[in-house]
Amino acid sequence: MNRDIQQQLPKPGIKHELLQKFGLIGESDGMQQIMAKIEQVAPTNISVLIIGESGTGKEIIARAIHEKSLRKENPLVIVNCGAIPEGILESELFGHEKGSFTGAVGMRKGYFETANGGTIFLDEIGEMPLNTQVKLLRVLEGGEFMRVGGNDTRKVDVRVIAATNRNLEKAVQNGEFRHDLYYRLNAVSIHIPPLRERRSDIRPLVKKFADDFCRQNHIEFKGFTEDAFLLLENYLWQGNIRELKNVIESVIVLEKGNQVDSHQLKHYLKPSAILDRQLPVPTSKSAEQAERELMITVLLDLKNEISQLRELILKHVYPPKRLSGLVSNSHPISYHQAEEVFTDEDDAEINSITQMEQELIQRALEKSGGNKRKAAKLLEISERTLYRKIKEYDLPY
Ligand SMILES: Nc1ncnc2c1ncn2[C@@H]1O[C@H](COP(=O)(O)OP(=O)(O)OP(=O)(O)O)[C@@H](O)[C@H]1O
Ligand SMILES: [Mg+2]
Repeated sequence: MNRDIQQQLPKPGIKHELLQKFGLIGESDGMQQIMAKIEQVAPTNISVLIIGESGTGKEIIARAIHEKSLRKENPLVIVNCGAIPEGILESELFGHEKGSFTGAVGMRKGYFETANGGTIFLDEIGEMPLNTQVKLLRVLEGGEFMRVGGNDTRKVDVRVIAATNRNLEKAVQNGEFRHDLYYRLNAVSIHIPPLRERRSDIRPLVKKFADDFCRQNHIEFKGFTEDAFLLLENYLWQGNIRELKNVIESVIVLEKGNQVDSHQLKHYLKPSAILDRQLPVPTSKSAEQAERELMITVLLDLKNEISQLRELILKHVYPPKRLSGLVSNSHPISYHQAEEVFTDEDDAEINSITQMEQELIQRALEKSGGNKRKAAKLLEISERTLYRKIKEYDLPY
């Protein structure tokens, strides 16, 4: 075997250990290399940046790194930077002194102090505002920080693992993410491929999720037929492993007692995400149910186009008919100017776009049973944006 490849494979036993201790499955070459990397970086203090689409396993890998490190007896603090409102993120991370802002009735330690001696996992780091990034860089460089409203420099010994599903290089180019922080975090990066690019992991994952779920819930499940496995391997899995796990668990609950074939399985999958169009189409689904599911898929697919369109209208309005002689084509007009120059027709259009957005958000919240984290993922927006929209539209969530 080529020496380079040999170096990238996990040592005998590591794969078994990662499976036994963390339930981490990985048969594909991509996952094998990640497992080897976990083993290499875990015992060091080096910062790690984990990059991967939603549901690919960023958190489980961060946990594995912490648990395999010398810091494992100390805390692992998990912070979702996207879910904490911008205004309070800094005080959540670094703490605050009494009276440093309205509502700061007492001193409060931040997550960095809580994680002292251990690891902090900064999830959705791409959502961190620039001023907080400056403070984070300082901690990374010298372990030093100040509580909000405080004058004393404090020191901590914390290892940082960060994760993102955004293209941080692009964010750096756009001036939304500091390049010095990016290079510092990126000392070691772990790119987790989406599930659709590592199909050999699908069967072992399905078997593991089915076994675990049946054992925990005392369910007897007769398994999947070969054509069902083929269908699972020929699906886009836009929600990656999390989506796979949810589908398997739903199938087990609703189809117990049966061996599940591709016809039954298709009821749990989005038709638009099935790659093999040759596979048979299910016939037992009610027309109403099929139509509803299709509607939701189409609406969600439209979401991106809608927000782009909305942005285009609000930020770069082309000269409206009424003022075409007054506004130059090359200069976008501001939001306030736009409000003045819209015709009634334009207003109606914007209203209906807003309504569509509101409806999408409402549907996503309904679909996720009110779980904002899940709803934000479904809509592919940050949790913070979702909270803002809920407030903006005064939705009852
Ligand atoms: N390699 C794997 N083996 C077994 N289970 C996995 C693996 N990767 C992920 N999972 C499971 O998939 C689910 C999603 O994983 P995780 O929460 O780590 O993803 P994530 O990338 O952090 O997602 P998000 O971006 O949405 O926060 C979890 O239930 C996790 O246990
Ligand atoms: Mg996560």
